[in-house]
Amino acid sequence: MAKTQVVIVGAGPSGLMLSQLLHRHGIDSVVLERQTREYVEARIRAGLLEWGTVELLDEAGVGERMHREGLVHDGFSLAFDGRIHRIDLKGLAGKHVLVYGQTEIQKDLADAAGARVVWEAKEVAIHDFDSARPRVSYLKDGVRHELECEFVAGCDGYHGVARASVPKERITTHERIYPFGWLGILADVPPVDHELIYANHARGFALCSMRSTKRSRYYIQCPLEDKVEDWSDQRFWDELRARLPADYANRMVTGPSIEKSIAPLRSFVAEPMRFGRLFLVGDAAHIVPPTGAKGLNLAAADVRVLYRAIVEYFRGGSTALLDEYSPRALARVWKATRFSWWFTTLMHKFGDEAFAYKLQVAELDYLSDSEAASKAVAENYVGLDFDDDHAPRARRAA
Ligand code: FAD
Ligand code: PHB
Repeated sequence: MAKTQVVIVGAGPSGLMLSQLLHRHGIDSVVLERQTREYVEARIRAGLLEWGTVELLDEAGVGERMHREGLVHDGFSLAFDGRIHRIDLKGLAGKHVLVYGQTEIQKDLADAAGARVVWEAKEVAIHDFDSARPRVSYLKDGVRHELECEFVAGCDGYHGVARASVPKERITTHERIYPFGWLGILADVPPVDHELIYANHARGFALCSMRSTKRSRYYIQCPLEDKVEDWSDQRFWDELRARLPADYANRMVTGPSIEKSIAPLRSFVAEPMRFGRLFLVGDAAHIVPPTGAKGLNLAAADVRVLYRAIVEYFRGGSTALLDEYSPRALARVWKATRFSWWFTTLMHKFGDEAFAYKLQVAELDYLSDSEAASKAVAENYVGLDFDDDHAPRARRAA
């Protein structure tokens, strides 16, 4: 039977990042991905990277194009009630973020030397993950293969096979589904502003983002029942303009969309994130609504903890860091889940109740006046420090 040290299920950002980081430390892995490379690279998703994610991609040796083409952002704006409040990320939290598309990260990682990926691996099944020798079987071009390994990383997203392989009684899930979706478009028009704008409006939420100085990514909150066909480009642009302060609406450049899609919003956490020698990573274990831009960044944070634990294990045989994987990853996951839920609740229209809208405007008004409140937003948005960035709290006080 073929062998490798780590089988990674899924070639999204978490699977490819993990494989590349392990490769840099001389650890062999095989990535099994059910889709084609072209399909995975065409999925338009995240666009905003915390600096910790940027540093991890540097550590993986794939940061060169990212630094050349990515846009450094020092702040973003909150638009509400005809006003604008800028969150000065650099001034308040001392860090910035990077605009660089998930599609580009996928390409950089797949081009990197370490990625041994089996594309179009069908019927992936994980066996014996409670034993010392797990196995993973799959079908490629109609032929069944089996790989023996020491660890399995389930990097296969929300609908993957890894979490589904765990018996129900061993896993606890928490879920909140929001009563609306995000309709997103990509268009080759210059962004309306050089920074992102998150807009709370009585008609619903809107977000102005970008992929480059020539390519815009815009979103509007829409009913869950809506279909992409309901939204002509003209209707999208009209609605987006209606939700933005007049000066932005007036200077918005519009053009034909090159992608248009509707995404539902949910918060979801599965715990624990480890079952014997199977580890859940990224969207396989947790989903956040995109409002806080945390999904890809959380996936990267999981990878950071897991790859170091696997490296330590293969270097010296210690399982100490592997044992800490689930609690350490979950501590960050719950903080990001809280922030994403809070930011979603603050910025979206939940119904016609005037009371709820007035409370949102009051909170945004308070944020505009309070440096402390704005700082809390900035700290969460740029990404909280990792627990190993500092000495333990008890010792720090000494
Ligand atoms: P995925 O990207 O889902 O990758 C999982 C892979 O596993 C896929 O390639 C899938 O094909 C494969 N797979 C699934 N099942 C199997 C199987 N049985 N066998 C083999 N392979 C399998 N995050 C941010 O941080 N910032 C943002 O700005 C942001 N914006 C977003 C905007 C939108 C509209 C959406 C939808 C998401 C956004 N996200 C954002 C979230 C981000 O895209 C995800 O969190 C991220 O893709 C998670 O990476 P992953 O590798 O864990 O999972
Ligand atoms: C994006 O550019 O796709 C994006 C940016 C910030 C978010 C969500 C999505 O909060």
